[in-house]
Formats: sequence, C-alpha cells, structure tokens
Amino acid sequence: MNILVTGGAGFIGSNFIFHMIKKYPDYRIVCIDSLTYAGNLATLEPLLKRRNFRFVRASITDKAEVDKLFEEEKPDIAVNFAAESHVDRSIENPSVFLETNILGTQILMDACRKYGIKRYHQVSTDEVYGDLPLDRPDLFFTEETSIHTSSPYSASKAGADLLAGAYYRTYGLPVTISRCSNNYGPYQFPEKLIPLMIVNALADKPLPVYGKGENVRDWLYVEDHCIAIDLIIHGGRIGEIYNIGGHNEMKNIDIVKIICEELKKPESLIAYVADRKGHDMRYAVDPAKIHRELGWLPETKFEDGIRRTIRWYLENKSWWKEIVSGEYRNRYERLSKEMKIN
Ligand code: NAD
Ligand code: DAU
Repeated sequence: MNILVTGGAGFIGSNFIFHMIKKYPDYRIVCIDSLTYAGNLATLEPLLKRRNFRFVRASITDKAEVDKLFEEEKPDIAVNFAAESHVDRSIENPSVFLETNILGTQILMDACRKYGIKRYHQVSTDEVYGDLPLDRPDLFFTEETSIHTSSPYSASKAGADLLAGAYYRTYGLPVTISRCSNNYGPYQFPEKLIPLMIVNALADKPLPVYGKGENVRDWLYVEDHCIAIDLIIHGGRIGEIYNIGGHNEMKNIDIVKIICEELKKPESLIAYVADRKGHDMRYAVDPAKIHRELGWLPETKFEDGIRRTIRWYLENKSWWKEIVSGEYRNRYERLSKEMKIN
C-alpha cells in the first residue's frame, strides 16, 4: 500500500505518519509538504533515511508538482492534512487560506481522478459547523448539522468539504471526510492554545487569554485522531462524513490553569486580552457514527494526555526553541544537502 500524506511536517500529519509507520511497517508513505511556517522538517528527520518513506517539498497548489508526484508514486490512498490551520492568521490574511485549503484540495482531487486512487480522505474540522451556545449543553454537532462558518479559516475548510462532496457525486471520486475537534499533543506549533501556554509559562511570559476565557473546546489527544483516520481510510464508507471528538469539553481558562498547576507557575501570569473577532463560543462533537460503524472511541483521558503533552514539551525543548528562534526554517536547506531528499 502506498499512502500519500499531505502536510505531514505539521502537527497532526506528522503524528499520523508516525502512527502509520509503526502500525504498518510495510506500507510506503510519501509526504508532500511545502514547509510553510507551520511545517518543521526536524519532526520528520528520523524518517528521512527509511527505505519506504519519501519527503517531497512542494505545495499542493502546484499542479505540475502534484501531477509529477502522482505519476511517479501512483498512491493507493491520499490523506489531505495540508492546510493553513490557524484561525487568528485567517482573520489577518484570508487569501492564503483560500488558496491552500480550497484550490489545493481541488488540485489534489484532480490528480486523484487523473491517476486513479482507491481513497481520497479530506481531513476537515468541527469548525465547519460554527458554534453552539454555552447554555445548551444538550446540543452537539452531528454529521447532519448544517454548515455555518465563522472565520475565513472555517469557511475555507467548509469550501473544501463541499468540493470533496461534489467530486464524489459528479465524478465518483472515492472520497471520505472527517471532522475532528481540537487536537493536542506532541509537535503542535506553539501558536495554538496549549503549546503556546506551555512555552510561555516555561519562559515566565504572560499567558494571553482571549476575552473572559469562557469559550469551550472539545479536546482530543492527537493519537486518537490518527487512529480514527486510520480506521476511516481502511473501513469507512465512501461518500460519508465522520465526526471525531473526545466528549471532553473544557473552558480555555481551565486549560490554562491546569498548565500553570502542572508547571508550578503562578496564575498571575494569566493576562486577559482582547477577544478574537467572531470568536466561536463552544464546540462539541457527537462521535456516535464513527463509534457505531468503525468501533472508534477515544483512548486517552485528558488528565493523562495533557501530562504526556507537557512532559513532551519539557523533554523536547530543542524542537520548540528552534521554532521560537526561527532556526527551524533553515533545516530543509541543511538536510537536503546532507541527505538526498526528493
Ligand atoms: P499545521 O498547521 O500544524 O500543519 C499544516 C501542515 O501543512 C504544515 O506542515 C504546512 O507546512 C503544510 N502546508 C500548508 N500549506 C501547504 C501547501 N500549500 N502545500 C503543502 N503543504 C502545506 O496543522 P494541523 O493542526 O496539523 O492540522 C492538519 C489538518 O487537520 C488541517 O487540515 C486542519 O484543518 C485539520 N484539523 C486540525 C485540528 C487541530 O486541532 N489542529 C482539528 C481538526 C482538524
Ligand atoms: O476545532 C478544531 C480546530 O481547532 C482546528 O480546525 C484548528 O485548525 C485548530 O487551530 C483549532 O482551532 P481553535 O481556534 O479552537 O484553536 P486555538 O488553539 O487557536 O484556540 C483555542 C481556544 O483558545 C480558542 O477559543 C481561542 C483561545 N485562545 C487561543 C490562543 C492562541 C486564547 O485564549 N489565547 C491564545 O493565545
């Protein structure tokens, strides 16, 4: 089996590659990633010399490069993680979100059609459903919940989902889509809530909490997301959407306080700052369908996952310190000289 993973130098894509290599040592994994600010080749460095792993630096928006790669590799399955993924950046500069998240998805799916694919999997997000009110804890996102986006990021992801559905219906492309809640774990770029708070707290820097910190997210340990995608690409029904979520709703402020406690840092570091524009109030995913059809349930409890994550950031300071200093941006040039990449 030859699996093409896009965005594999990012947070979830890299965790997925590690999961797949461990579980299916005979599979060939080909990663295409353009190494934007969010991609870090240091994460994949231990894999670069493996016989059945290949890294290609290219953008999914580059049709010639994507076609060339499909021509060479003829992947059986493509899993599309590549995206601009940070809501705050989408509010500052929407255009790259539309280019990568929508046009990049189109270019990938066109290549899948042209060269033939057994499965195209679109990694989407619960943010396409918009948000839920805090005073209705009985409400959850199901696969039937209508799309109602808030940010340019979520609108771009919804656009990609709609396009994937259209490619299934119009061309019969064997598509599946998953919509997951907030992930946390190793290798997450320190601009997202949990790693940013860990990195700032370790440096005794302020911990910026938007608004009153009462927004709720449904946190899932990244490995559980990877297991779910593995189940979907091997056994999920073509044309279907699967929600993935941990039934683990928490207020932002409570997460930040847990991190302070675990790191023995004072809560006086918490700084309430201006709210995010259009800030979604609550996300809560109903994962009943993937449980019923594929037997998936989250395996990692939040108490364990958050400790494991904090420990990882403590034991891998060089990984995030290179990001903070900007040094990680030079890694591709250095590694491509040292070893043969591509
Ligand atoms: P990330 O920002 O950590 O990683 C994105 C990766 O994609 C980076 O390696 C980047 O270099 C690469 N990339 C960006 N533009 C590219 C392009 N044009 N061509 C090739 N590669 C490109 O993101 P993440 O948090 O790992 O999210 C991965 C996917 O999962 C995204 O599609 C995101 O929408 C989705 N998702 C994320 C979460 C979450 O909590 N992080 C939850 C649900 C869904
Ligand atoms: O729900 C899935 C989504 O989760 C993914 O699709 C996105 O790619 C991913 O980034 C994440 O989006 P969020 O906007 O929920 O994640 P973020 O870590 O940016 O913020 C989590 C919450 O914390 C949100 O309510 C905003 C708040 N926040 C965030 C940051 C970075 C703060 O209060 N302070 C901060 O500095």
